[in-house]
Amino acid sequence: MKILVTGGNGYIGSHTCVELLNNGYEVVILDNFSNSKKENLAKIKEITNKDFKFYEGNMLDRSILDTIFTENKIDAVIDFAAYKAVGESVLKPVEYYTNNISTVLVLLSAMKDYNVKKLVFSSSATVYGDPEVIPITEECKTGGTTNPYGTSKLFVEQILKDLYNSDNTFDIAILRYFNPIGAHESGIIGEEPNGIPANLLPYVCKVASGKLECLSIFGNDYDTKDGTGVRDYIHVVDLAIGHIKALEKLNKEQHGLFIYNLATGTGYSVLDIVNAFEKVNGVKVNYKIVGRRAGDIATCYSNPTKAKEELGFIATRTLEDMCRDAWNYEQKNR
Ligand code: UD1
Repeated sequence: MKILVTGGNGYIGSHTCVELLNNGYEVVILDNFSNSKKENLAKIKEITNKDFKFYEGNMLDRSILDTIFTENKIDAVIDFAAYKAVGESVLKPVEYYTNNISTVLVLLSAMKDYNVKKLVFSSSATVYGDPEVIPITEECKTGGTTNPYGTSKLFVEQILKDLYNSDNTFDIAILRYFNPIGAHESGIIGEEPNGIPANLLPYVCKVASGKLECLSIFGNDYDTKDGTGVRDYIHVVDLAIGHIKALEKLNKEQHGLFIYNLATGTGYSVLDIVNAFEKVNGVKVNYKIVGRRAGDIATCYSNPTKAKEELGFIATRTLEDMCRDAWNYEQKNR
């Protein structure tokens, strides 16, 4: 099976390409390096010892998609190509809606024209807004997103539902990621945030390595076990495997639109992360407690039952694995 992976050179995309290649899929990557380094392509080859086709370009450019679909018999698409920085999205809403929504519309129209009807879409737990019920199931209400990044994911989910209603020969899997962290166990690929990281684990890595002085923990007065925010962290390799499971589902089923949370089902607090990171890696993470970050919620974790029952997906890597692999990558790529 030949899979077009848009944004396949990025953090989650590159780990997914490794799993695809290791599972015998043929891979075609489209990426414009907007948030990834060119060297990653060679690293994917280094880990898997397998080759793939690569196209450099932006999905807004319909002609690049025409070229790809003409030159390759694509069976399915996994769409990762999007911007993902929440804070930046508030400052650049037009750029975010263009890059995260308009691109999908161009992709979908090309898929229709070339009769490619299997799609796995990268969504986010952020579509649940401030969740009404914890743990979160796929049936929980969506909406109430507080930034253009989250709203762009919500809108695309609606577009995909409308598309499926108009043409039920599509097979679509919407995957709602919780908090992906960690890196490939080889330490060859991992997360490369631009500038000062906004997310917790990349920040912790920079503090542990001495590049940043001190982690600010955003609030210790939440209604959680130790007052700090609780999230459902999932190892990026487990997340990547979730995409393989989703593809298998799309190949088996008659047709349908399916939505899955990809998560472990366990919530860890910010202090749990700091403590686990220090213990497993034998390093010190300086931190101070500061005020809450605007837009943060107290607790967000998933009920992972649906993905387990319908996809056979279980995230097996532990918090210790996530912390160890993130630090291994940080050390190898200083
Ligand atoms: C954020 C996004 C989410 C996105 C995800 C990507 C929001 C509302 N959500 O999730 O849409 O998919 O990133 O991984 O922004 N923390 C600190 N200090 C820091 C950084 C974070 O204390 O320097 C805390 C946060 O308050 C939170 C936890 O760590 O409790 C996790 O934060 P983060 O990694 O930014 O992820 P989310 O906010 O959950």
